[in-house]
Amino acid sequence: MRNPITYLEEQFQNIFNSTPQVIVKAPGRINIIGEHTDYNHGYVLPMALEQSIYVAGKKRNDSILNFTTLNTHRRSIADINCPVRNPIEPWMDYITGVVAELKSLGYSLTGVDGTIYGEVPIGCGLSSSAALEMAILKLFEALNGFQLNDIESAKLGQRVENNYLGLKSGIMDQFISRCGKKEHALFIDCRTLHFELVPLQLNEYIFVVSNTNCPRGLTDSKYNERVSECQEAVKILNYVTGKNMKYLRDFTREELEQARNNMSDTIYRRALHVITENQRVLDALKALKNNDIEELGRLLNQSDYSLQKYYEVTNRELEVITEIARNIEGCIGARMTGAGFGGCTINLVRKDCVDKFIPTLLEKYEKETGRKGNCIISSPSEGACVVKVY
Ligand code: GLA
Repeated sequence: MRNPITYLEEQFQNIFNSTPQVIVKAPGRINIIGEHTDYNHGYVLPMALEQSIYVAGKKRNDSILNFTTLNTHRRSIADINCPVRNPIEPWMDYITGVVAELKSLGYSLTGVDGTIYGEVPIGCGLSSSAALEMAILKLFEALNGFQLNDIESAKLGQRVENNYLGLKSGIMDQFISRCGKKEHALFIDCRTLHFELVPLQLNEYIFVVSNTNCPRGLTDSKYNERVSECQEAVKILNYVTGKNMKYLRDFTREELEQARNNMSDTIYRRALHVITENQRVLDALKALKNNDIEELGRLLNQSDYSLQKYYEVTNRELEVITEIARNIEGCIGARMTGAGFGGCTINLVRKDCVDKFIPTLLEKYEKETGRKGNCIISSPSEGACVVKVY
């Protein structure tokens, strides 16, 4: 594998004929459990991956943003004073989106020459977008000498998604990409934004991430549709219970059953997933603290079942790969991770079985779907940081 820092230095030199001032990085993530709960003000339990997005940058004397992404060798130029979306180079939107939000907070920024290199596969449910947003924010902080607190940073990234890009996503991805810690998962209460670092001791097990390499179709519109369905459930639950709440977090399973006849089966199943998933996160936290990894595995399987049957955010490839995984020796839990509709799954696998698990999984997956998947193994890593100053 190529060293991202020397690669960025080399390419920066080639493109701009100078050395960068700083190199920053921000990680991708897996979510261990707590899917589609964040925008319902619920609980999540992600961990940051070693795979990161790296950005090298140098201040300019004008207001021009001149960036090249080395993964696709595309270059794009924008003006700090006029951050607008770029349908031809959509990756640039994460940069102008961060700029737009920083400007609305009153920060004065200068132009930047930059190169980007990402190890996080794009569009695979490992949050390459949040990683890019958090890396760009770190870059502007480093170059302009200011620092946002971690929670404000995550909120800024979420606003880029919600306001600039039109995806009504929650705060999980930016939060973990900014606040991840080595050897820890992060339990986040997405209402209070209180978080707890949880040592990720999995005894004789590790997480294997498997990528279905299946392009995600219509993800944004289906994602926003789920957000609306949850809001619809809240309206009905308020009506039936006489409460006046805004999020599914505020309702119990009993209240949902009480309101069941007032809602369509689809709305019922969406709410059922969210309410039970919140409980599973709390149970998973307890299991981790009690060192009960088998229980964690069972919760992953239950979460996946709920995402398939009730929340309906899986696709055939995700269903096939998790089913194969559960039937391979040493795997005690498997589930999709992230928004779904394609992308990646996580598998909790006994360490001494991993060498056999990976080729067996990929071979059977290809046989059934005709697609080549791939696997990643990563320890929990640090959130966004400066990696080199020149
Ligand atoms: C995407 C969103 C997150 C979260 C997950 C599903 O990754 O960006 O906010 O909603 O989907 O849990």
